[in-house]
Amino acid sequence: SDRYAVFGNPVRHSLSPRIHALFAAATGQDLTYEAVEAPVGGFREAVLAFRDAGGRGANVTVPFKEEAYALCARVSERAQRAAAVNTLSFEAGGAVVGDNTDGAGLVRDLTQRLGLDLGGARILLLGAGGAARGVLGPLLLEGAAEIVVANRTEARARALERAFGGLGRVRACGLAAIPPGPYDLVLNATAASLAGEVPPLDEVVLAGAPLCYDLAYARDGLTPFVAWARGRGLRAEDGLGMLVEQAAEAFALWRGVRPETAPVLAALRGGAA
Ligand code: ATR
Repeated sequence: SDRYAVFGNPVRHSLSPRIHALFAAATGQDLTYEAVEAPVGGFREAVLAFRDAGGRGANVTVPFKEEAYALCARVSERAQRAAAVNTLSFEAGGAVVGDNTDGAGLVRDLTQRLGLDLGGARILLLGAGGAARGVLGPLLLEGAAEIVVANRTEARARALERAFGGLGRVRACGLAAIPPGPYDLVLNATAASLAGEVPPLDEVVLAGAPLCYDLAYARDGLTPFVAWARGRGLRAEDGLGMLVEQAAEAFALWRGVRPETAPVLAALRGGAA
């Protein structure tokens, strides 16, 4: 059977092996998918060793997506824009090619599962790190009318405004100077959840937003941001759906068959399977 893996650090708690095992079972694909904890500073070596041992492809997660991008002989246009790679394929001759399915995964979860129409949408994007960068292009290409990028460090938001302004209307600001809503969608792409925190926000800017969405996820769906937003009467969802969709997109690239995602998301939520 064909070998795949996810590389990260830490990677113990990655749900990717389970997601891909469920996809493989559902589509009848003969493959294995393991989690590899590469040492910081040892990513390249670990990936190339996996390729040389017969690996066919890999996913890449925190903190190696930028290093993965640098390692590739070729990357897709969307990976180029994100300047990060989450999906590697090893060609027959050994060439490493990269793609980034994170943004497509988010767009698919928002539009297919949650029923959002991104055409003409006004979006508030909190955060300006790698996660924010990965989703800006796909959201703009899906027809978002305006994306306000609000970040604790305003200069990083400005850098994204410059990098993505050619694809659509992008406005940068600090967290304390967010232009008034209503927004059609509020996305949390900050790493604040990791510290159990919520970005400091004047909640007035969220008023009237039909959906708040956290790129981070929790097994029970209740990330700090989701809990905070729901506590204010807002509809809020975590990013587990995005995780499953980015995995499906990678699986389709590797195997040429697109797995169904709803049963896998249900299995992860239920704790079964
Ligand atoms: P990632 O790959 O997860 O995006 P990153 O590139 O380190 O990680 O970016 C982290 C993002 O979360 C940044 O936008 C960061 O804000 P700064 O650019 O000001 O550092 C944001 N962030 C992290 N902790 C935060 C907190 N407690 N409150 C608000 N923003 C936070």
